[in-house]
Amino acid sequence: MARELCVFFPVLIFVAILHGQICAVTGEPQVPCYFIFGDSLVDGGNNNELKTAAKANYPPYGIDFPKGVTGRFTNGRTVADFIGQLLGFVDFIPPYATVTDKVISTGVNYASGSAGIREESGSHLGDRISLDRQLLNHEKTISRISSLQSNKTYTDEYLKKCIYLTNIGSNDYINNYLIPTTYPTSKIYTADQYAAVLVQQYSQQLKTMYNLGARKIAVFGLGQIGCTPAEIERFGTNGKPCVQWINEAVKLFNDRLKPLVEELNNVYSDAKLTFINLTSISAPQGDLPVPSVPCCKVKEDGQCVENSTPCLIRALSIFYDGFHPSEVANTVVAARSYIALTKMDASPYDISHLARL
Ligand SMILES: *[C@@H]1O[C@H](CO)[C@@H](O)[C@H](O)[C@H]1NC(C)=O
Ligand SMILES: *[C@@H]1O[C@H](CO)[C@@H](O)[C@H](O)[C@H]1NC(C)=O
Repeated sequence: MARELCVFFPVLIFVAILHGQICAVTGEPQVPCYFIFGDSLVDGGNNNELKTAAKANYPPYGIDFPKGVTGRFTNGRTVADFIGQLLGFVDFIPPYATVTDKVISTGVNYASGSAGIREESGSHLGDRISLDRQLLNHEKTISRISSLQSNKTYTDEYLKKCIYLTNIGSNDYINNYLIPTTYPTSKIYTADQYAAVLVQQYSQQLKTMYNLGARKIAVFGLGQIGCTPAEIERFGTNGKPCVQWINEAVKLFNDRLKPLVEELNNVYSDAKLTFINLTSISAPQGDLPVPSVPCCKVKEDGQCVENSTPCLIRALSIFYDGFHPSEVANTVVAARSYIALTKMDASPYDISHLARL
């Protein structure tokens, strides 16, 4: 029997909380499988057993998540979780660290907090699964699915129908380029050169994803890192709402990533990639500036203090900790990447369109 799965989201944050609603009629999900690559913005628990400071498997993380603390770096669901629900998946896509053969064919979440496009990004925090290693893990997943389905033609066709989401690159700034005492990249490259080498490497990684069978790929651009409470605290804003030079550096990356997506669509005629513009999606609606105040009490590293009591009205916070959006902000991003509100949000396709192609 079909049932309705709804995701509620606030339309006008801080001006008035008018609730919008998107519903997906479930029964069968719209695509047979969904794979997630990325960093802490979409990590579902892969870092829990790693030796790293980049972990969120303690309260008050997960306070609004149905299963409580899971390692998600927010109070509730991530953008990847919401998109999964909008696609009609009833269960959350399991992390690679704990996925079983019973559910592996529905999809896997490879994302890892502090990981980057570059291997070394995040290394001062400890272990992490870089995008290159996430792709190696995906290869292992494909072998497992292949042997479960025991028909190579079938598996090849099956993998082409899945949605692949990739949201990575923030740590190549936050936990690399912006820490000159630990990482040399800002001495080697100008911001523009760095954006170019990052996108060049990402291009190779997206080609690997294609070679591993991906045909429907949603590539998330980077959010405005200069507007995160932690970077504002660290660098100051000179009276502006955000650290502008950081946003400018990140924009150089985004401005190269979108043309890369277009280029790959031309090179691979059987692939559909789409670029999700977080700047467009998270632009404040109305005239009020969005206060960058974390909901939880944060430590020096920007993460929530263990077992601290978070803010009460979490629907009013954009940020949960010093870096990560709250569940409410995640619902807005997911809703607008799934069904774009403006042409800028997702191009050339939003994810609902991508699923139907
Ligand atoms: C393998 O899968 C293909 C594609 O679904 C199908 O046409 C073919 O009959 C299958 N082969 C076997 C031996 O089941
Ligand atoms: C993203 O959207 C913003 C706001 O509409 C726009 O200024 C920017 O050029 C867009 N970025 C890309 C890469 O298209």
